Amino acid sequence: MNIFFTKTNYKFAKNANKSNSAVLTFIPDTINMKKTALITGATSGIGMATAIRFASEGINLILCGRRDERLLELKKKLQPKVDVHTLCFDVSDKKATFAAISNLPPEFSSIDILINNAGNAYGLDSIETGNIADWEFMIDINLKGLLYVSKAVLQNMMKNNSGHIINIGSTAAKNVYKKGNVYCATKHSVDALTKGMRIDLKEHGIKVGSIHPGLTETEFSKVRFHGNKEKADEVYSNVISLKPEDLADIIHFVISRPYHINISDLVAMPISQN
Ligand SMILES: NC(=O)c1ccc[n+]([C@@H]2O[C@H](COP(=O)([O-])OP(=O)(O)OC[C@H]3O[C@@H](n4cnc5c(N)ncnc54)[C@H](OP(=O)(O)O)[C@@H]3O)[C@@H](O)[C@H]2O)c1
Repeated sequence: MNIFFTKTNYKFAKNANKSNSAVLTFIPDTINMKKTALITGATSGIGMATAIRFASEGINLILCGRRDERLLELKKKLQPKVDVHTLCFDVSDKKATFAAISNLPPEFSSIDILINNAGNAYGLDSIETGNIADWEFMIDINLKGLLYVSKAVLQNMMKNNSGHIINIGSTAAKNVYKKGNVYCATKHSVDALTKGMRIDLKEHGIKVGSIHPGLTETEFSKVRFHGNKEKADEVYSNVISLKPEDLADIIHFVISRPYHINISDLVAMPISQN
């Protein structure tokens, strides 16, 4: 089946029958219907702010992360507004990722929006002194984890011939900074992967794009410096940084465009950043 797009809010499915003539099937766009979003890394920072913003816009949520108590707390907070389901798993654990996403309860099994947000930097070291365990964490989470989650969710989106995937990259996907070596490499990979996914999934009616944040004040630096709060706080002192809510606002803008618009690649930096 080939999907092609005509007027705003509509798509048509073109089925080739045996005589190879085209049959046009009208599929109403789901733009005004209640949507479900799966957000990875919803326990903190950009992911949590996006969950809160989506809930205020009436989007049902599947919240993911490894810290179950935070997921449950957020669920409690957002449930009066929308339906919420939580999935506690490590995205770098292939088996756990597929098990969690393939066993969603029926009311959450149709996913319209995937926000591939889970990710972190570990360490800030020159390449010759870099810690191999840190490198492996970043590759396993930022790259392989994003692939596992996408593959698991795609099984579902392909059935519906629709969906929207946003990969959270970074300005580190576009530039490389001193001692950022492996983190930058994973985010450059996310950028390339986004382009590849978009090409492959277009014919299935699935939109793919990336949003690349610049410096944003979250738990990111605390994780990067292995829990050293003083070092982490230093990163955000004396500079203007983005707030996670700024990103949530941008992410909501991107996912709420009419069906025929795909904002494919967006960089958002604080005014202070080069
Ligand atoms: N903050 C920035 O300056 C900045 C700039 C550019 C890009 N980004 C990107 O933005 C995204 C969100 O980061 P953030 O700034 O919001 O950082 P954050 O506050 O540290 O949040 C990271 C989130 O990812 C989740 N996560 C990390 N490893 C995971 C794993 N193995 N399995 C499942 N979930 C995992 C964490 O949840 P659990 O710990 O509960 O699992 C947490 O919810 C990341 O992809 C990051 O690279 C951030």
